[in-house]
Amino acid sequence: MSAKNILVLGAVSAIAQAYARQRAPSGARFLLVGRDAARLAPIASDLVARGAAGADTAVADLAETDAIETRLAEWRQNFGAPDEVLIAYGALGDQAESEKNLDIARKAIEVGFTSVAMWVLALLKARAPDAPLTLAVIGSVAGDRGRASNFVYGAAKGGLDRFLEGVTHANAGTPVHVVTVKPGFVDTPMTDGLPKGPLFASPDRVAADIVSAIEKRRRVVYTPWFWFVIMTIIRHLPWFVFRRMKI
Ligand SMILES: NC(=O)c1ccc[n+]([C@@H]2O[C@H](COP(=O)([O-])OP(=O)(O)OC[C@H]3O[C@@H](n4cnc5c(N)ncnc54)[C@H](OP(=O)(O)O)[C@@H]3O)[C@@H](O)[C@H]2O)c1
Repeated sequence: MSAKNILVLGAVSAIAQAYARQRAPSGARFLLVGRDAARLAPIASDLVARGAAGADTAVADLAETDAIETRLAEWRQNFGAPDEVLIAYGALGDQAESEKNLDIARKAIEVGFTSVAMWVLALLKARAPDAPLTLAVIGSVAGDRGRASNFVYGAAKGGLDRFLEGVTHANAGTPVHVVTVKPGFVDTPMTDGLPKGPLFASPDRVAADIVSAIEKRRRVVYTPWFWFVIMTIIRHLPWFVFRRMKI
């Protein structure tokens, strides 16, 4: 792979860190964006130690949609146009709290869907004609079927899935490559509160699947692969079975 300019939105995410570590030896240049400068700095130094040609950092609340175009213009001026973007930021949220407090539900939808969709539109709008651009966007298997236990987060990821499907369709035959990444359970700070079981994957495993999907120009990747099978079954379960399930 030739050296690239890689923009990582949500660079402190455990999955994003694993992805960047795997990309660094190619000599890529990174712009790492997150909310906390002190946490971004050691991630940047580590990437340079692993072979990255450079790793700049920028602090931003990525859910602030009004600032997206200004931030992107500023970053493009200082860092150059990205060839590859990983959109990794997200929050699991609290389903029960979202049902009690509409502000919490709205924020969950803004973080998981609205802001991500706006970043994708802004990146496409800013792209020079004919410039190649790869957008790897982390959705979730939770978006494949609405479930009682997390339908606010799931709806945001499900909406994102439809949105990216349309973006992929709109850019067919162009140098824009969109990868919708659908992880199952991943052992990251996001799932700290959940009991761990055999279905949990490591961030490294998920990152390897993202890198492979980018290189093979896949449109959608379930990671690990067996979630494709699980979600095919879940999506096709008849209502009289599904309604009794505590999931
Ligand atoms: N872990 C799983 O089981 C799982 C499964 C399916 C999909 N995913 C998706 O995978 C992606 C990465 O999550 P992860 O598992 O790597 O969890 P993680 O380590 O907790 O990372 C999530 C990151 O998102 C950042 N973030 C949240 N809201 C933000 C905002 N408004 N602006 C900037 N950054 C923001 C957080 O920043 P702070 O550190 O500043 O809070 C955190 O670094 C997410 O989109 C998640 O929905 C995860």
